Amino acid sequence: MKILGISAHYHDSAAALVIDGVPVCAVQEERLSRRKSDAAFPLSAIEWCLEHASLEPEALDAVVFYERPMLKFDRILTCTLRAFPHSWRAFPKAMKNSLGEKVWVRGIISSHLGVPGRKILFTKHHQSHAAAAFLTAPTRRAAILTADAVGEWATLSVGHGERRPDGATAITLLREIRFPHSLGMLYSTFTAYLGFAVNEDEYKVMGLAGYGRPTMVDKARQLIRRTPDGAFNLDLDYFEFHTTAERSFSSRFVELFGPPRASYEPIDLDTADGQRYADCAASVQRVLEDTLVDMAAALHQETGLPDLCLGGGVALNGLANARILAESGFERVFVPPAPGDAGCALGAALYADRIHFGNPDREVPDHPFWGPVVDGVELARLAGEDGQPVVELDDRALINQTADDLVAGRIVGWMDGALELGPRALGHRSILAAPHDAAMRDRLNRDIKYREEFRPFAPVVPIEEADRFFELPPGGTRLTRFMSGVFPVRREWRARLAAVTHVDGTARLQALDREMAPRLYMLLEAYGQRTGMPVLLNTSFNLAGEPIVNRAVEGYTTFLRCGIDVLVAGQTRVMKRTAAVAEPKEKIAWSRSAAGSSAG
Ligand SMILES: [Fe+2]
Repeated sequence: MKILGISAHYHDSAAALVIDGVPVCAVQEERLSRRKSDAAFPLSAIEWCLEHASLEPEALDAVVFYERPMLKFDRILTCTLRAFPHSWRAFPKAMKNSLGEKVWVRGIISSHLGVPGRKILFTKHHQSHAAAAFLTAPTRRAAILTADAVGEWATLSVGHGERRPDGATAITLLREIRFPHSLGMLYSTFTAYLGFAVNEDEYKVMGLAGYGRPTMVDKARQLIRRTPDGAFNLDLDYFEFHTTAERSFSSRFVELFGPPRASYEPIDLDTADGQRYADCAASVQRVLEDTLVDMAAALHQETGLPDLCLGGGVALNGLANARILAESGFERVFVPPAPGDAGCALGAALYADRIHFGNPDREVPDHPFWGPVVDGVELARLAGEDGQPVVELDDRALINQTADDLVAGRIVGWMDGALELGPRALGHRSILAAPHDAAMRDRLNRDIKYREEFRPFAPVVPIEEADRFFELPPGGTRLTRFMSGVFPVRREWRARLAAVTHVDGTARLQALDREMAPRLYMLLEAYGQRTGMPVLLNTSFNLAGEPIVNRAVEGYTTFLRCGIDVLVAGQTRVMKRTAAVAEPKEKIAWSRSAAGSSAG
């Protein structure tokens, strides 16, 4: 059975193809259209998926859309009417922004793909999140918690899933919290208040929290009231997102927390305002974590299950995930590589397969690499035409050469195999660098990412070595598989991992399983042989405001436009002519002696 899953029209569209119960491919529209967070109907993603599997649309048994458009329409209309006349301006805007052509999705799918209406199915938004979390995790029974800004009505759901021995699958969502009461909207409101882009920069709030103290946690708690049944309500006097598209926080919010930050205003932690912004971030972060931990602990009590699957955009909050693991009573916490709406394309297709059609349970490969495969030959051709120095090497020579590059302080663009699904570069579209000096972090921010950041870059380490450098609780390595948890760097290593250690001593590490990305794993080993530390800085291969690179041509043009010294794709290595002369001499000397000592 061939099922196409689609998510679209809110944020980060994607398509995914499941054949005979197993994912075959999936890709976000932004990676193909090159428009960051592209929310358009994902025609390019669909086309690529079908082409990849050599399918014509007629061969599809079902096309599944990841939410119910009419329920969403119902929510927007109801909220608008409730808030009328205050909301009269918001309705057309909400229709345009959040809904757009969504209500007419069946017609759109049918006309674009030429599939009959009867083959088009809809899952609920949080069912898609739940399926993306549970059906991709290597567990047979688990509690499920999904939390995001909003889907149709639900903003948080709890339940459980089971893959039974007879092959049947059940996903039961027991309860939900409904819009406008939303942890995602609470966090996004602070994102907007702190002058960042909503739905984009939530991770900056989490990073800024590391510089602050939760001095305003009591104030933040006034915004969200816990209810006796274990749920919560937002005090809507502090918010405006439910009545207007102009602003998400109200004047009462400003009375409570002070004037908001303008997006162009620099955050200077030496000023009172700068510290207030950091304290605000720390306070809302604390409240988010406390609420999630409480709800997860209650769910653990209720289900008695050792495993928890987390889904929805809120599951990208690595600090909250780590606290849920440590404090809720669950032994293992699973977060998929794409817990947000892009992953819902895959979730919707799997949900339809297992639940709607009742097809037997199948193992889902436990990795994030579902997109197009990079072509090293294409890179060789492109760079050759430009007269750049290109070499094609076998694996061993390429790994050794790249390890030498990294030891010499060169920044490496690393493209390998199939593109990741989800926001994290997990080893196939990464920028790699030595993790030791804060100067490397600053160089990456200045010459490549063009950004001022509140979080340093993330480290990647072989799973067997993770515990040596990082303090992982029991079960912690699972959260680090897809960079879903933030954990302390061991004190004795912090100075030598300065480019990847946050101000509060933590890191959002990836503990790499050899099987998941063997070439990156070998590179870590080779780097470890040279330096004694098999740890690299790993950041997504993109410039600020651009999606992660997909094909060799995007890697190559990005390489030309920024301070990356070496580009590797497949077996091809390209080095900028300037890179060799630009590197500091003492670094070379250090690398040679380090290489010499490790070889002995
Ligand atoms: Fe969502």
